[in-house]
Amino acid sequence: MIIKCEQCETRYKLADELITQSIFKVKCSKCSNVFTVQKPEKIKPLDLPEDAVLPENLAHKIIAISNQKGGVAKTSTAINLAMSLAMQDKRVLLVDFDMQASLTIAMGLNNQAKTFYDLLHKPGATLANVILKTKYPNLWLLPSGPNMALLMKKNINQKHFEKILRNKLEGIRDKIDHIIIDTPPSIEFFTLNALMASDFVIIPTQCEFLSMHGVAHIEEVVNIIKQRQNENIDYKILITMFNQESTATKVIYNKIKTKYQDKIFNTTIDFDTKLQESQIMNIPVAQYDRNCPSALQYQALAQELTGDTP
Ligand SMILES: Nc1ncnc2c1ncn2[C@@H]1O[C@H](COP(=O)(O)OP(=O)(O)O)[C@@H](O)[C@H]1O
Ligand SMILES: [Mg+2]
Repeated sequence: MIIKCEQCETRYKLADELITQSIFKVKCSKCSNVFTVQKPEKIKPLDLPEDAVLPENLAHKIIAISNQKGGVAKTSTAINLAMSLAMQDKRVLLVDFDMQASLTIAMGLNNQAKTFYDLLHKPGATLANVILKTKYPNLWLLPSGPNMALLMKKNINQKHFEKILRNKLEGIRDKIDHIIIDTPPSIEFFTLNALMASDFVIIPTQCEFLSMHGVAHIEEVVNIIKQRQNENIDYKILITMFNQESTATKVIYNKIKTKYQDKIFNTTIDFDTKLQESQIMNIPVAQYDRNCPSALQYQALAQELTGDTP
């Protein structure tokens, strides 16, 4: 394992057999700084049996989480919905399709990850050796990382560049119950690829005045894609970071409800400091506190989505 002093940036190579603890302290022999090192988690490649063919729920098989507005809980929803589905015995693949790699970082798997870019452009890379098995049962991750920035540059001039993700996911569709794709806060190469690959789009939004315009915009994009390219795609809006105490929030919630009616999930996700704490620890909220409001609400969302009763 390679470690780097945080102060003087000197790099050292540590033999794996010398590392006996998952977190330990090291003193830099150059500048005497003492710093903490965390051993990278042992990660396994995809270990689905070759012949596993799972029951299909085509309507919600591949789900993009999308809104061109940042900070509306796309990444939080991707992680916590995926974890909730996995806890309900569904096999779930999370796809981090945002070059910021927030989802991969939030899962604590950014250190040694290969990415979708490697899958497409590195000889010998396959879905099985790029997808990581997370430490949670039923949950896998196709990571993002810095080289994802090159993906658009390399492929934007290709014919059907918008179907790159869809074509690759064909290789795993039959082995997994749900694929959940996190997208960036813009509508371009990455988001178009995610929408083209998906059967369903979750549009997270806060109950704020300007958010309604953002929802209208992404709704329009989904409708264009439905008319021209991907006729089976459908969507619903998810209210996130809901503040039960705020009158303004309730007024806007009623406006959104009147406008979108059955295009809104019955489940809303409350503003919950437990969710923020869980992200500091790099773990999904249901693993941090199974009974806190947002953990219960993401479980309810998973049930609403799949039609399963608790
Ligand atoms: N239910 C929630 N309660 C409190 N904070 C939340 C909740 N959902 C998300 N957040 C916080 O909001 C911020 C933006 O969330 P994130 O999922 O990164 O949004 P996006 O992916 O849309 O940019 C993060 O700091 C996250 O911790
Ligand atoms: Mg995000």
